[in-house]
Amino acid sequence: MTMTPHTNDLFIAANWKMNLDVRQSINVARSLRDKISTVHGERQLWPVVCPSFEALVPVGEILSGTNIQIGAQDVFWQERGAYTGEIAASMLVAAGCSYVIIGHSERRRYLGENDEMVNRKIRVSLAAGLTPIICVGETFEERSAGMTDHVLMRQVIEGLKGIPLSKTSSIIIAYEPVWVIGTGQAIEPQMAQRSAQIIHQSLIDLMPQSIVEEQTRIIYGGSVSAENVHGYVSTGLLEGALVGGASLSATKFINLLSSL
Ligand code: PGA
Repeated sequence: MTMTPHTNDLFIAANWKMNLDVRQSINVARSLRDKISTVHGERQLWPVVCPSFEALVPVGEILSGTNIQIGAQDVFWQERGAYTGEIAASMLVAAGCSYVIIGHSERRRYLGENDEMVNRKIRVSLAAGLTPIICVGETFEERSAGMTDHVLMRQVIEGLKGIPLSKTSSIIIAYEPVWVIGTGQAIEPQMAQRSAQIIHQSLIDLMPQSIVEEQTRIIYGGSVSAENVHGYVSTGLLEGALVGGASLSATKFINLLSSL
């Protein structure tokens, strides 16, 4: 995907997490393929689905004739070798992926993923030609302690430290307040916009402004639905969404896309 500055288009990624097995993933993908042509929004959409690893190839094959692209939910930072259970960026590319989610809060929480690991994963993904969807966001405790800005700045700066963006690569930062994910209780769009400003400023601290404008994009995630998605993307810096629960059925996801 090439992103041009100030375009009106929206990037909407479906994170299926560990919810659908291969058969269920195929069913949702078939249904998405049959319904996607009914989406006629005012803004150009870049839909992406991120199934579990074993469903990447069949889902990619089913969606190949559509505008829906494929992403993975994780990647390892080594290229090949004795790393049981891990998957390389080149393997994701070979499986048809264009995107990869990195540093999701569930991985940070349950798998001990830290900023340094996120940094290494971003590096190999870009080198392989993938566009990383880098998740950042504060926990409830961090927000209550007034640490939100600090956490966002740290996650962006440490995550991207020492990684120059080549002319052909892009990154997507997903702002996901951890305490909102999966709760159905979305935050006010202004609150998300405020965090997006902090992320935007952190990006400007790291790289030339022209690269920030042309090769990076900030999206929102956390209990996004067909009812609330418009509020997040209608003003300011947010140019898309990362959707969990509301992407698990084709009908729900198509409704969400249609609402834009
Ligand atoms: P949710 O998940 O939409 O179910 O809150 C979003 C995410 O974790 O990426």
